[in-house]
Amino acid sequence: MTVPRIDPFHAIGISTIAHRMAAEGHDIIHMEFGQPSTGAPRAAIATAHRVLDSDAMGYWESMPLKTRIARHYHDSYGVTIQPDQVILTCGASPALVLALGSCFAPGARVALARPGYVAYRNALRALHLEPVEIACGPAERYQLTSAAVAALDPAPDGLIVASPANPTGTILPAEEMQAIVQVCRARGIRIISDEIYHGLSYIAPARSILQDDPDALVVNSFSKYFSMAGWRLGWLVVPPSLIEAARARVGNLFLTPPSLSQHAGLVAFDCRDELEGHVRTYRHNRDLMLDRLPAMGLDRIAPPDGAFYIYADIGHLTDDSLAFCTQLLADTGIATAPGLDFDPVDGHRFMRFSFAVSTDRVEDALARMAPWFDAAHARRS
Ligand SMILES: Cc1ncc(COP(=O)(O)O)c(C=O)c1O
Repeated sequence: MTVPRIDPFHAIGISTIAHRMAAEGHDIIHMEFGQPSTGAPRAAIATAHRVLDSDAMGYWESMPLKTRIARHYHDSYGVTIQPDQVILTCGASPALVLALGSCFAPGARVALARPGYVAYRNALRALHLEPVEIACGPAERYQLTSAAVAALDPAPDGLIVASPANPTGTILPAEEMQAIVQVCRARGIRIISDEIYHGLSYIAPARSILQDDPDALVVNSFSKYFSMAGWRLGWLVVPPSLIEAARARVGNLFLTPPSLSQHAGLVAFDCRDELEGHVRTYRHNRDLMLDRLPAMGLDRIAPPDGAFYIYADIGHLTDDSLAFCTQLLADTGIATAPGLDFDPVDGHRFMRFSFAVSTDRVEDALARMAPWFDAAHARRS
């Protein structure tokens, strides 16, 4: 068995240049990562300050946090899970590794949407699993369909579902999600659902896969809605039959997330007013961008239902999205992510903007980009 090849995350390269430019005195607008520019909720930070002085910070798995997360499934989705089904992790990233490692043997085939979050493909490869990419275009709003899953031959062993999705922010309609669950059940396909963007929704709240499939595994995190990316805290929900397998793996591979973050995360669950304020900002940013990007020639966009991204087709301007984003950064100070990160086949003609920044920064970015895109169009015509 050969060592699998893992692709780099090109947005990290863009970000490195952006930080170098900032150190040289340029005013940079960071739209390359899906990273809230707001910090953790104030009450969560206050709790962290307090426990720093009183807690020994040993290895720890917070039962109150696991119980609170289980209650969240009841309150938000009407789903009953036991606290033991919740495995605390250092974010969604290890939760995904844990989910894949607990379900699949090396060589197993796991399907996923293309475009999709860069780490899905690469985490699968790193674990000696085989990614089976399903091309999802604008007609399906870049989302999976039950028909596409049913058409896979042979049936894969697993399927990664993401709703809202990265890089598009699109949400699977309830009936399509239910249809996907039915196809997977009939074909023996295990579902792993990445629900990291739940809470960030501009239409009806996203549905949890657990409402339709109690055997699915759910990945989630404090990095997005809770605005706590650097606290490295997340969770995995596993069905009762996989608790032992997942717990054995987390104990050997990762141990526990930071106890400081667990204390703060518990408090963050009850900071809804502050967090909903961030969602209002994102909604406003989304509307601003959807209003103004078409005038810049960026009109081939599936409007995001959730998350904080806009994935735009720039095929009329370039066939090298990495060079395009690098030039945009050099000329305007706006850092974005090339589509190549999300789609190795068609991503050379897409780019992704994250609008998880303040509205002032979005206004500023739009003002800087308008003449730049005019010039880019002029060069192509
Ligand atoms: C879809 C998706 N899943 C998982 C992650 C990883 O998040 P975490 O910070 O919780 O590891 C990200 C990060 O951007 C993401 O976009």
